[in-house]
Amino acid sequence: MTDTILTQNRDGVLVLTLNRPEKKNAINNAMWIALRETFKTAAQDDAVVCVLLCGAGEHFCSGVDLSSFSDGEAGEEHPFESAARAVVEFDKPVVAAAQGVAVGGGATVLFHADIVYVGESLRMRLPFANLGLVPEWGSSYMLQANIGAQRAAELFYTAEWIDADKALNCGIAADVLPDANLFDHAMAKAEEIAQWPVNALREIKRTLRMHHLDAIDAAINAEQAAMMRQAGSPENIEAITAFMEKRAPNFRDL
Ligand code: COA
Repeated sequence: MTDTILTQNRDGVLVLTLNRPEKKNAINNAMWIALRETFKTAAQDDAVVCVLLCGAGEHFCSGVDLSSFSDGEAGEEHPFESAARAVVEFDKPVVAAAQGVAVGGGATVLFHADIVYVGESLRMRLPFANLGLVPEWGSSYMLQANIGAQRAAELFYTAEWIDADKALNCGIAADVLPDANLFDHAMAKAEEIAQWPVNALREIKRTLRMHHLDAIDAAINAEQAAMMRQAGSPENIEAITAFMEKRAPNFRDL
């Protein structure tokens, strides 16, 4: 079986690759657990100075695997929750390189990267309203903090597609690169970061993030409560059934 999370330490840069390209790197339950453990282990490992997060193939990530969305026992926490917290709590720099599809968790993870580079092919979406769901991964707070309340509201309410230029212009991305150069550019920046002492970088991240951590925590708790109300609702079931049946959802006749 292929490893769906690949890691390689390149002189202090932990290159973490989401590796399920045939599903546009959709993250299933086993991958969430592997992602969580990778971040937790990397946090303890001083040989890791920073992380470079990327996706295998032409796409970054299509978010939670919708076919395993309802796996697990009723009331049991989805492994997404603990993985999301491990990323939020990670105390060293995270650089991300995202091209092609970046949807759902594949978009909201990027709001926790310290620096995001995107390829010209980027197609980002916050697909919560259209799935009958609510924002996750603290994105209801992070996106507002990053780009302002109105722009965030527009992206959440419309679930519109965001291209690379829009991501750059509104502050979701630091730079846009041709897809062919994206990884090398992000890697070069990660290497620049990794030349510095890990403890200094940790302290810098702490000072940058301290203003946000309580707010992110409150957002995640509020989002989880809202998600419990919406997950499994008629509109959510209709949206996921429509996706699996490759048709448009009908929310009017529920
Ligand atoms: N979960 C499970 N499978 C997914 C997936 C996801 N989130 N995203 C893509 N896939 C699968 C598709 O079912 C398809 O599988 P198949 O080849 O066995 O039929 C394969 O990946 C390729 O995706 P496809 O839909 O054919 O590609 P596309 O270019 O037409 O569309 C997306 C790409 C990302 C726009 C579309 O797949 C999509 O909307 N996915 C759902 C994304 C989403 O809502 N994620 C958030 C969950 S909270």
